[in-house]
Amino acid sequence: MRILSGIKPSGTIHIGNYLGMIRPMVESQEKGELFCFVANMHSLTTVFDGKKMAQYTNEAILDLLALGIDPEKSVFWVQSDVPEVAELTWYLNNITPIGLLERCHAYKDAIAKNIPANNGLFSYPVLMAADILAYQSTVVPVGRDQKQHIEVARDLAIKFNNTYGNVFHIPDAQIRDEIAVIPGTDGQKMSKSYGNTIEIFGPEKAIRKKIMSIVTDPTPVEAPKDPDKSIIFSIYKPFASEEKISLMAKRFKEGGYGYGEAKKELFSVLWEYFSPFRKKREELVSNPDAVKEIREKGAQKAREAVIPTLEKVRKLVGVNNSFC
Ligand code: ADP
Ligand code: TRP
Repeated sequence: MRILSGIKPSGTIHIGNYLGMIRPMVESQEKGELFCFVANMHSLTTVFDGKKMAQYTNEAILDLLALGIDPEKSVFWVQSDVPEVAELTWYLNNITPIGLLERCHAYKDAIAKNIPANNGLFSYPVLMAADILAYQSTVVPVGRDQKQHIEVARDLAIKFNNTYGNVFHIPDAQIRDEIAVIPGTDGQKMSKSYGNTIEIFGPEKAIRKKIMSIVTDPTPVEAPKDPDKSIIFSIYKPFASEEKISLMAKRFKEGGYGYGEAKKELFSVLWEYFSPFRKKREELVSNPDAVKEIREKGAQKAREAVIPTLEKVRKLVGVNNSFC
């Protein structure tokens, strides 16, 4: 089983990204051969500042390594370090019906919101298909929002195989439905776009402030409260031990337990949970040569994985000189 997953670098990651995407990916290192990459070329569809782009990419590398991606167990690289994927994108572009891309949500949403759409955004799913197919991935774990893109990758694999000859494995999506959506500080889904996130690697003071700003109802301290209606408790559950979860639930129900106290307890559990990761990240930051080496070695391994497929593809589409 070859599991492939890409993460678009976009600045600061939050605990929702960690629970929904990064933690399951780290766990999948034990289940099969994990190919994990920083999808910086996908970010180019919306980031138009080269310095920012490079910074986001570096942050994503540090975040993923700190949070448990192990370059000894997995292949870990940056998308643009494997230029063969851009090459494959072009071959796939030529068998991609315009109508297939016009039906894709990301493009349709941009048009509906009057956001000026560029060709990169329009053909985003083709680049994603190239990522998946170049590595002959068997399983692609994604959030529900990416399901349609995996269907495009499957369609293009089938069409290419039928047009030129059998070369691509048909990948399967693995939709992470079982993972609950974690609420943000205002109770909506935690998301960068809502400004309600709790960051993983921010300064202590800023994280504490975010947690203290979690929205609560006006129930007085003495009154019993329903833990399942509390945002604090929802964020607490995925990170605290069973024992601590039961204790907080009990305190809520008994009354005499204020939201302020619960927030302090949440901060303390989160701070402790991420403390080893923070330490690891600091080590990485202070050792840029080691990080550079990880990036270079990862790129080399990733390129080795795609070259046999690209050689076959070039021959099939007739762009190498083997028939001259
Ligand atoms: P954002 O909404 O902050 O822009 P993204 O859309 O970049 O985050 O999310 C990347 C991935 O992180 C998603 O596919 C999803 O798996 C996960 N994710 C984001 N927010 C949450 C959340 N609140 N709860 C659970 N998973 C989340
Ligand atoms: N489009 C994905 C996202 O926004 C990131 C991504 C790029 C990806 N290429 C991929 C995910 C290939 C899985 C497989 O989250």
